Amino acid sequence: MPETVVLGDRQVHLYWETIHATPQDDDLRATLNDDELSRVDRLQSPEKRALRVVQLARRRRILSRYLQVAPRDVIIDYDPNGRPLIPDGLYISCSYSQHAYLLAISRFPGIGVDVENMHDYREMGDVTRHLSKHDMDTLSSLSPRDVTMASIRMWTRKEAFAKGIGTGLFHEPRDMVVPSSPDAVRWEGRPLVGADLWHLRDLEDLEEDFVREYVATVAYAIPASLESVTISTPPLP
Ligand SMILES: CC(C)(COP(=O)(O)OP(=O)(O)OC[C@H]1O[C@@H](n2cnc3c(N)ncnc32)[C@H](O)[C@@H]1OP(=O)(O)O)[C@@H](O)C(=O)NCCC(=O)NCCS
Repeated sequence: MPETVVLGDRQVHLYWETIHATPQDDDLRATLNDDELSRVDRLQSPEKRALRVVQLARRRRILSRYLQVAPRDVIIDYDPNGRPLIPDGLYISCSYSQHAYLLAISRFPGIGVDVENMHDYREMGDVTRHLSKHDMDTLSSLSPRDVTMASIRMWTRKEAFAKGIGTGLFHEPRDMVVPSSPDAVRWEGRPLVGADLWHLRDLEDLEEDFVREYVATVAYAIPASLESVTISTPPLP
């Protein structure tokens, strides 16, 4: 049986890692279910497929310590919008970018994460089309050197929030106003009930040794029954 990890009601456990797949990691395919394998097989390059196998296997290994089952037996379903669903009162959010993955686990539903590699982001083209007027005003006050970093941060905040509310980027990201400090999210488009309950933390503020090449955000909504939530990074299994 895997070692048990206890998660309190007001805790968020955050796991991140940058990994490289090795030929021996092929064996890890056996721990994935058919749905995961078909997602892996849809990725274009063999390198990306090999890496995703390891990332998904890592997610199973981590979750197995909370669920007290073997990694192969962790049940992961999805709601119609693509949000992952885990049994036993656990909620997760995950994100992958290049060699990094980020996984957040909580006992309350309002949790979302996003990680982006800065190199990928540069290939995304003009992201300003997804930014709100508030975001653009913020960028216009920055030096050209800081604009790239600030706009990728805005992006990871929007995507983490979008996963937290469970819609993904079905909502127009331009409608989300994400503040530049840990603060509540505002919404410029159609009113979004409970948007003011959300908080955003960038990973480099939480983790001193977070790799510079990546930018990541955790979004969480503190449940009404709790005053605060703590975020910690337990050791990797
Ligand atoms: C959700 C979305 C933001 C993911 O972005 P991405 O940059 O492609 O991928 P990331 O690596 O950051 O995140 C992938 C993870 O997001 C999670 N995710 C996907 N949809 C989600 C949703 N609606 N809510 C919360 N999390 C979601 C999944 O856990 C997924 O990983 P997994 O499939 O291994 O479990 C993006 O796919 C999106 O908005 N799509 C639009 C909505 C959509 O098409 N939904 C699919 C309907 S089936």
